[in-house]
Amino acid sequence: MRVFVPCDSAALSIGADEVAAAIARIDSTIEIVRNGSRGALWLETLVEVETPTGRIAYGPVTPDDVQSLFDADFLHGGTHPLSLGKTDEIEWLANQDRVTFARVGIIDPLSLSDYRAHGGLLGLIKALELSGDEIISEVTESGLRGRGGAAFPAGIKWRTAAQATSDQKYICCNADEGDSGTFADRMLIEGDPFTLIEGMTIAGIAVGATQGIVYLRSEYPYAITTLQKAIDIARADSWLGKSVLGSTYSFDIQIRIGAGSYVCGEETAMLESIEGKRGVVRAKPPLPAIEGLFGKPTIINNVLTLATVPMILAEGASAYKARGVGRSLGTQVFQLAGNIAFGGIVETAFGITLNELINTYGGGTLTKRPLRAVQIGGPLGAYFSTDQFETSMDYESLIAAGGMLGHGGIVVFDDTVDLAVQAKFAMEFCAIESCGKCTPCRIGSTRGAETIDLIIQGVRVDENKKLLLDLCEVMTDGSLCAMGGLTPMPVKSAMINFPSDFTGAAR
Ligand SMILES: Cc1cc2nc3c(=O)[nH]c(=O)nc-3n(C[C@H](O)[C@H](O)[C@H](O)COP(=O)(O)O)c2cc1C
Ligand code: SF4
Repeated sequence: MRVFVPCDSAALSIGADEVAAAIARIDSTIEIVRNGSRGALWLETLVEVETPTGRIAYGPVTPDDVQSLFDADFLHGGTHPLSLGKTDEIEWLANQDRVTFARVGIIDPLSLSDYRAHGGLLGLIKALELSGDEIISEVTESGLRGRGGAAFPAGIKWRTAAQATSDQKYICCNADEGDSGTFADRMLIEGDPFTLIEGMTIAGIAVGATQGIVYLRSEYPYAITTLQKAIDIARADSWLGKSVLGSTYSFDIQIRIGAGSYVCGEETAMLESIEGKRGVVRAKPPLPAIEGLFGKPTIINNVLTLATVPMILAEGASAYKARGVGRSLGTQVFQLAGNIAFGGIVETAFGITLNELINTYGGGTLTKRPLRAVQIGGPLGAYFSTDQFETSMDYESLIAAGGMLGHGGIVVFDDTVDLAVQAKFAMEFCAIESCGKCTPCRIGSTRGAETIDLIIQGVRVDENKKLLLDLCEVMTDGSLCAMGGLTPMPVKSAMINFPSDFTGAAR
């Protein structure tokens, strides 16, 4: 008899441990599997029971519900007010196309046998049959682009590092996940860490790197613990180490913990931080793929980019690129956050509309008030109005609409939001998080916040709006990295899409 109770941070934060303990108190013979979260966060704690016809779900379960679940014979799928039916048939989950998240919430994150039983390691086994060049061709052919924000084609980056000659190369996984409204990296690591390890190992074999480093934020203590345990298990299983699965390849992984700085997610600041220095952005060139960590060729990829690679190798590039639209191929792990009724992970092919994500999946606002704005792509992303809800969610369409996809986080606001205040917040955020290396970002952000403040107060509104747009142009064109370069995006989109908030009259 197996019962699943998530050990994901989101579930733990609302009492999943207490639910598991309450079940064990009533029947200590039950095997309680601590799985990752399915990503339907409003249903947490989502308890599932394995039955001959599939897994049956109940949620959201609190410790106080547990006795009544036993009374309803939930161990045999009995009916209860919290019954959700078969987990696989919950519409919200059934309609998704989970590729990167295929195993998250389903397996025991630290069971290698569970991992293998659900298709784990097939990508690595395939990679070991190919040359590095062939692996890179497959990744290039799949159309996979970086999921950290810049959407750069993964295969091209890998090829650059592969062609560099060096005694040492590195694979750095960017798990800093600093964007507002994002949590996919964390959920992947907590729910299926072996997939990330497998993706990094494949990347190492492809480019000739023997050392992997995961840069993980200190605010993710459970992810750190889970990933470290998974690395230890993979090493004990002779997957990581001197001979990867008995091959002539050597690859190992270490975790480095960030100290909580948004700019340390920028890849070159991340390298500085890993090297033990202050997280200041480096000028490019040289590209990290040629001269990265400790001056050696380094692949830097986001968690989701690397975690998608095993599936691409296992099922073939054509299966992956059959999904999506235009140059945005495959699936995107959207993260619905903020004031939203049904928040969580929606993995689906690129090309879904914003409306489908926010209203069909998300169910509108949690407060039930009219929806007014969404910010897509983190704190440097654009604010969209409901007039733009038919926008296709793919890289090119979002750029054409004045925004960007970033890491796929979407934060929802109801009609109480004041976009001038949000614009000021964007500048303040940049002022706090700026690494300070260049003037447009370091000084411009502070001047920007002051100027928006004057607009809010109704001081020389037209003149200050013009000044603000000038300043935005300087920051866009003159900043060394995307921190200062993209801060104008939320500011300008707020001004363009919500002009009534920039009149100087109180909302
Ligand atoms: C200010 C700033 C913060 C960033 N934060 C992250 C982050 O937390 N995680 C991430 O993967 N990429 C982040 N990026 C993007 C990285 O610089 C880099 O493009 C990415 O890690 C490359 O991996 P990918 O090609 O797989 O997306 C950030 C960029 C900037 C400018
Ligand atoms: S834009 Fe900002 S964060 Fe980027 S290098 Fe310049 S000061 Fe640093």
